Amino acid sequence: MMSLKNTDNSYGWVAKTFHWGMLIIIFGQFWLGGNFKNEEYQGMGLGGYHFSIGVLILILMIVRFIWRAKNPVPELPEGTGKLQAIGAHGLHILFYILLIALPIAGIAIVQSKGGSVSMFGLFTVPTVLAKAETSAELASTLHGIFAKSTFFAVLLHFGMAMFHNFVKKDNVLRRMLPW
Ligand code: HEM
Ligand code: HEM
Repeated sequence: MMSLKNTDNSYGWVAKTFHWGMLIIIFGQFWLGGNFKNEEYQGMGLGGYHFSIGVLILILMIVRFIWRAKNPVPELPEGTGKLQAIGAHGLHILFYILLIALPIAGIAIVQSKGGSVSMFGLFTVPTVLAKAETSAELASTLHGIFAKSTFFAVLLHFGMAMFHNFVKKDNVLRRMLPW
C-alpha cells in the first residue's frame, strides 16, 4: 500500500495528490488569466474565478510547502552529480517561490485598482494596498513576468521528467505517478 508520507525513494500519496491536483488547477488558471475581461473585476465572472482560484493556489502552495518540509525528499538516482542535484531541487523550490509570489502580485493588481479580492465569496482578502495607478502597473508587470517564468519552468520540468523516463530510464517519473 502506498504510504501517506514520502519515503527516501518515493513520494507518498499526499505529495502526489498535491502535485497532480495542482497541475490541473494551474493549467485552468493560465487559461482563465488569458481569457477574462477587464470589466470582470467584480463578481463571479471569469475574472472572479481567476482571482478566487489564484487565492486557493496561494493557500495550497503554503500548506504543500509545510508538508514538504515535514517529509523526507526522495533521493535522486545514484550517480546524480552535485550540480544536477542542486538544479533539480532548485527548480522545485523555484515553483514554490513563483506560485506564492504570482498570486500575491495578482492580489496587488486588484487592490491597487481599488477592487477587493474574494475567495469564492467565502472570505475577502484583507485590503492592504491603497488605490494607485503606478502600483497597479508595477504589480501587473510583475504578475506577467512571474506567470511567464512559471510557464517556462513547467516546460523545463516536463522536459526533465521525460528525459529521466525515456533517456536515463530511471525511476524519477514513476515515483511521482499516481499508480
Ligand atoms: C498562481 C496563480 C495565478 C496564475 C498562474 C495567473 C496567471 C495569469 C495569466 C497567465 C494572466 C494573463 C497574462 C497577462 O495579461 O499578463 C493573468 C492576468 C491577470 N491576473 Fe493572474 N494568475 C494567478 C493569480 C492571480 C490572482 C490571485 C489574482 C488576483 C486576485 C490575479 C489577477 C490577475 C489580473 C488582474 C490579470 C489581468 C492582467 C493584468 O492586469 O496584468 N491573478 N494571470
Ligand atoms: C507537466 C507535467 C508534469 C510532470 C510530468 C511532472 C513530473 C514530476 C516528477 C517526475 C517529479 C519528481 C521529481 C523527483 O523525484 O525529483 C516532480 C516533482 C515536482 N513537481 Fe512536477 N511535473 C509536472 C508538472 C508540474 C507543475 C505544473 C508544477 C507546478 C507547481 C510542478 C511542481 C513540482 C514540484 C514542486 C515538485 C517537487 C516535489 C514536491 O515538492 O511536491 N510539476 N514533478
